[in-house]
Amino acid sequence: MNYRALIFIFILFSSIAIGMVVHTKNLQENVVKSSALHYAKLYSDALEEFRDLYTSEVVAVAEEHGLQARHDYLNKKAIPLPATLSILLGKRIGESGSGATASLYSPYPFPWRKKDESFKDEFSKEAWAKLSKNPKEPYFKFDIKNNKALRYAVADQMRDDCVSCHNNHPDSPRTNWKAGDVRGVLEIKIPLDKIIATTNNDLKKTIIIYVVLSILGIVGVIIMIKKQKTYSKELEKAIKIRTSQLEQEKIKVERANSAKSDFLANMSHELRTPLNAIIGFSEMMKMGLGGEISDKHKEYAGDINDSGNHLLDLINEILDHSKFEAGEMKLQCEDINLPGLIERSLIFFKEKAMKKQLTISTDIESKTETCYADDMRLKQLLINLLSNAVKFSPDGGFITLATRDTENGMVEISVSDNGCGIKEEDIPKLFKSFKQLDSSNMKKEQGTGLGLALCKNIAEAHGGKIWVESDLGKGSKFIFTMPTKS
Ligand code: HEC
Repeated sequence: MNYRALIFIFILFSSIAIGMVVHTKNLQENVVKSSALHYAKLYSDALEEFRDLYTSEVVAVAEEHGLQARHDYLNKKAIPLPATLSILLGKRIGESGSGATASLYSPYPFPWRKKDESFKDEFSKEAWAKLSKNPKEPYFKFDIKNNKALRYAVADQMRDDCVSCHNNHPDSPRTNWKAGDVRGVLEIKIPLDKIIATTNNDLKKTIIIYVVLSILGIVGVIIMIKKQKTYSKELEKAIKIRTSQLEQEKIKVERANSAKSDFLANMSHELRTPLNAIIGFSEMMKMGLGGEISDKHKEYAGDINDSGNHLLDLINEILDHSKFEAGEMKLQCEDINLPGLIERSLIFFKEKAMKKQLTISTDIESKTETCYADDMRLKQLLINLLSNAVKFSPDGGFITLATRDTENGMVEISVSDNGCGIKEEDIPKLFKSFKQLDSSNMKKEQGTGLGLALCKNIAEAHGGKIWVESDLGKGSKFIFTMPTKS
């Protein structure tokens, strides 16, 4: 198992898990805040509702029956003031164990309350400032770090039945109240620890689920990677086996090939020695150097000499071809003058052309005068094509040798004749070794079937190409390209 991949997967899953935990933590905070706000609003609504109800239903009725509402109601046969009762209720709620507290304060406190409740801290001052301007909007703050509590303040606004008492009551510090005035601030304090504790429990469960899922994910990915690994190992093995098989086959083929060219080279060498003797001695006999012989014998000696020469050509061709095929043919390239080469090649065909009354013309269209090639091989190629053209041309035919520049820095050399042409289906076989075309015209002529294969060898060894354009019955044109520079 790749060490790096493992670390990568681990980091990936860990960061996903951490991201989810952070997200859940934020979610938890939001849940805590919104539920605390919800509780605070419920409390303040309930307190206000209670006080309003007490004011309209109890205080009003009690006063009709001659009972006064006073803050010191206990010894005076009186009932408590609405605010007094509200403060008492807030205290009771605080003592009941829910942890929530309620308090009431204002900048116009009654004389006996001056010291305790009013504006002890920043929050109460801010709350008054905000609420006296905008009584409809509750003012609150979360104190999560120190006290873990929500402080929630709403405006205590005067209504008609509040105003009538406040403006007339002997204890009231101010007597010009109007309905709608903000008389004081009702603050509810909701402790957050209980809510946090319950959500913390949920958070723990969620984190455990994340961790378990992450571990499962990591294990799953590791298993997948392992499987992939064994699979690719098997594949690698199979490829190795196949590669070594191919290599062995290649070695076999190479061995067979080199055995073939060794054989051909040896054979040609072995054949050439006696053949040279046959050619030499038949030549001498023909010339009568060993003493006078009859004309008939001279003719036979001439035939032996011709056949010997032909055989030597064939052997040389076979040897050359096998060298090219084995990649052992070394070219000795130099700059060759094109018109000169053409002239030197055409000399060979003067006699034959005369015999068949052929017209051989040249068409030097190219501007480049030299090409870069192995002189002997290039001449061999050209002579091969020319001798084919001469062979297959009818008596009185036309042969054209032309050169032309191409765009890619090569020179194109072509040999065309007006002979019988080549069938289209035969063209692909043309440049293959040991393939003589099965045409009645061609059968008359002898050959190894190697001539054109050798031409292809030579052209390609120079980096050139060879191809043929032919019209059956009208003639053929063999074209090859040679480089103009090294
Ligand atoms: C029967 C007369 C009476 C009625 C009705 C009445 N109050 Fe009061 N209120 C008083 C008196 C007297 C006090 C001072 C005693 C105290 O602070 O406990 C007082 C105290 C308060 C205080 C506390 C001020 C402080 O900081 O000490 C607030 C706020 C208040 N009243 C608002 C109201 C509102 C709002 C209403 C109407 C829903 C109302 N009162 C109805 C007589 C009345």
